[in-house]
Amino acid sequence: MEFEKNILCIGAGYVGGPTMAVIAAKCPQYRVLVVDVDKERIKAWNSDRLPIFEPGLQDLVKKTRDKNLFFSSEVQRGIQESEIIFVSVNTPTKTFGQGAGRAADLQYWEKTAREILSHSKTSKIVVEKSTLPVRTATAMERILNGNSRGISFEVVSNPEFLAEGTAIQDLENPDRVLIGAKETPGGIKARKEIVEIYANWVPRERIIESNVWSSELSKLTANAFLAQRISSINSISALCEKTEADINEVAYAIGMDSRIGPKFLKASVGFGGSCFKKDIMNLVYICESYGLEKVAQYWQAVVEINDWQEGRFIQNMLANMFNTVAEKRIALLGFAFKANTGDTRESPAIYIAQALIEERARIVVSDPEALENARKDLKRIEDKIIFEPDPYRAAEGAHAIAILTEWDLYKTLDYERVFDSMVQPAFIFDGRNILHHKRLFEIGFNVFAIGKAPLKHF
Ligand SMILES: NC(=O)c1ccc[n+]([C@@H]2O[C@H](COP(=O)([O-])OP(=O)(O)OC[C@H]3O[C@@H](n4cnc5c(N)ncnc54)[C@H](O)[C@@H]3O)[C@@H](O)[C@H]2O)c1
Repeated sequence: MEFEKNILCIGAGYVGGPTMAVIAAKCPQYRVLVVDVDKERIKAWNSDRLPIFEPGLQDLVKKTRDKNLFFSSEVQRGIQESEIIFVSVNTPTKTFGQGAGRAADLQYWEKTAREILSHSKTSKIVVEKSTLPVRTATAMERILNGNSRGISFEVVSNPEFLAEGTAIQDLENPDRVLIGAKETPGGIKARKEIVEIYANWVPRERIIESNVWSSELSKLTANAFLAQRISSINSISALCEKTEADINEVAYAIGMDSRIGPKFLKASVGFGGSCFKKDIMNLVYICESYGLEKVAQYWQAVVEINDWQEGRFIQNMLANMFNTVAEKRIALLGFAFKANTGDTRESPAIYIAQALIEERARIVVSDPEALENARKDLKRIEDKIIFEPDPYRAAEGAHAIAILTEWDLYKTLDYERVFDSMVQPAFIFDGRNILHHKRLFEIGFNVFAIGKAPLKHF
């Protein structure tokens, strides 16, 4: 069968895989190929056990794979066979040299650009799907168009706004799709081509066209604003704990103001995920490099509050468990950075587990989807930790439970059974405010939630 367009995506990760699965499902007239240098990952995409867990993803891949959706590690061939290339490789925080800990590490990105250049025989549209510092498209274009083969490349920015855990839903029904390009005839034509892809299922008024710099910067700004809301509510949660105000009541009351809105106002142990911290630190670095110190400090504080909130959680555990957790068994329920994903990148649970091990606690980690990743994150101290998928067994003989991910499963456990199996006095630290605290207190637990007065029996 002749396909209308041949689309390639370089990078088969949390973004590349789901995004392309949705494009393939919505556009049977296109051939969509996803390539990655990681052969194991590609093998998993071609198997029944996909490399990432995302509700609805498995069904979508089953429906489209080997029809118009393909996964392969043949990057070179993929480049040659396609007219449109989405680049969705990782852009982590730099860990070395200038800008370490803040700037984006663009080595995978640049390597991909050079690969596209060396294997292309025809002109192509290159779409920035990865999150990138503002003005990266210039560098990309310089690399790509520095060829003497008479082929040209248009670079279009199309940042991804999906949230892990609801990726398929977000992709199928996005609030908006943003497509930025240079305001030149070639840029505008390329942007139109990308608009055409999304217009297959996204209402036209939700497809925003902008200049390429606005598009790049909007992604960093969106993540900074989202994280800022979490840090804002978390900072107030600390004040609630001192004053007997209740953070849920405060969040509800302010969220009813249509100028504020109710979403992203949930107090917690802190935000995680591969993006928020990395993108804010990148924004901070960019601001500094333009001499905007005040702006940099402003956004840096969002990350500082998050680190502080994680630290506060541990201090709270220690202070309430008689200033020592040494040799005490503590069950961490949830390790993923949020519910409905197996992703643990930058999860607060990593910090909490490490801090408790330093305090010589005996840690049991439980999670329905993230134990494999948890094992990798805690490799250095793996021998000191028990990994237990069953939350009841994890809690058996424990002094305390800490809820670190808002999985529905933890809302409906039989807490009487849990309580009876624990060492007394039994403690619950609800780092996600998902449990029925009064009921737990009545069962006999000492309950500590975020931004609420503690419920203690002593
Ligand atoms: N995860 C999210 O929720 C999310 C949301 C929006 C945007 N983003 C952004 O999207 C980008 C990708 O994120 P992710 O979470 O999918 O990352 P990921 O690490 O899961 O996937 C990236 C993949 O790219 C592959 N890769 C790297 N260099 C390559 C090369 N030269 N050729 C072929 N493959 C290569 C890696 O092997 C890896 O499998 C990042 O810039 C991220 O900031 C992520």
